[in-house]
Amino acid sequence: MHIEQGQVAVITGGASGIGYGLAETLVSRGVSVVISDIRSDGLVEAESSLQSMGGEVTAVLADVADESSVRALAERTMEVYGRVDLVCNNAGTVCPAAPLWEQSAQTWQRMIDVKVRGVIHGITAFAPLFLERGTGHFLNTASSGGLAPLSGRTPYTATMHAVVGLTETLDIELKEAAPGLGATVLCPGLVDTALGVNSAALGAISLPTGGAQRSMRSIGGGNVLTPREVAESALAAIEAGRVHAAPGSGVVERARRRVDELLADITVG
Ligand SMILES: NC(=O)c1ccc[n+]([C@@H]2O[C@H](COP(=O)([O-])OP(=O)(O)OC[C@H]3O[C@@H](n4cnc5c(N)ncnc54)[C@H](O)[C@@H]3O)[C@@H](O)[C@H]2O)c1
Repeated sequence: MHIEQGQVAVITGGASGIGYGLAETLVSRGVSVVISDIRSDGLVEAESSLQSMGGEVTAVLADVADESSVRALAERTMEVYGRVDLVCNNAGTVCPAAPLWEQSAQTWQRMIDVKVRGVIHGITAFAPLFLERGTGHFLNTASSGGLAPLSGRTPYTATMHAVVGLTETLDIELKEAAPGLGATVLCPGLVDTALGVNSAALGAISLPTGGAQRSMRSIGGGNVLTPREVAESALAAIEAGRVHAAPGSGVVERARRRVDELLADITVG
């Protein structure tokens, strides 16, 4: 799908990080954006910064884990703009670092509700609108942790693998329904965002004692992407008709190692 002026995009988790980077990039291309988030303070701030860039923006408070909340987001989008071209199912949190057997049932439930059901809610709410017009694209944010194992965060890795698998299948189903439809999964490496701080504010993790959270840049050094770089890479993938976008240093190599090991294992005997 070509991204152009006059289109309308919806972005969940749009108040911060990658979602906000997508909003900024789309606004700079003349696309109207509906930013949605569960944190009202962040949403108000994001809306006014995007408007100060000259963007046509609507902010909608919604919890992606709640199906009716996402349906209301779709209704509001149609009420305000009467069309939708791109839906970015991006909202998410990280989970505590621990081996699988120490992860709580509550963490699993939260990751499945937000990361898997949240993406599904976005698709079921907006797909009928795409099908009606015969055009539209889903961009689902997963992670490089959805392309290869990531030790110590199984609820995160497992749900991100689910988003990769469901997007690959969704893309086939959409193209079978109409050639103008499609889906792309975004699998970045480390991105300089407030994911840790926001995840703590939402109760998904506890910050280390003293409340200090190491920044992504201090964890990843020079190998950390900016949200704008991730957004440009995602939009380039959509425009090129690609199903995967995997920006970030070392991401392709890790994915290649996983595929090579998988093929070696399953071709034995
Ligand atoms: N930062 C990274 O290094 C990185 C790398 C790969 C993938 N990701 C993924 O990218 C996505 C965006 O993360 P980010 O790094 O931009 O973090 P972020 O915290 O800056 O942005 C995520 C936004 O999602 C919102 N959110 C969380 N739960 C929600 C819910 N139930 N309903 C609606 N909104 C909700 C948060 O309030 C926040 O504004 C996440 O799914 C994350 O796992 C991040």
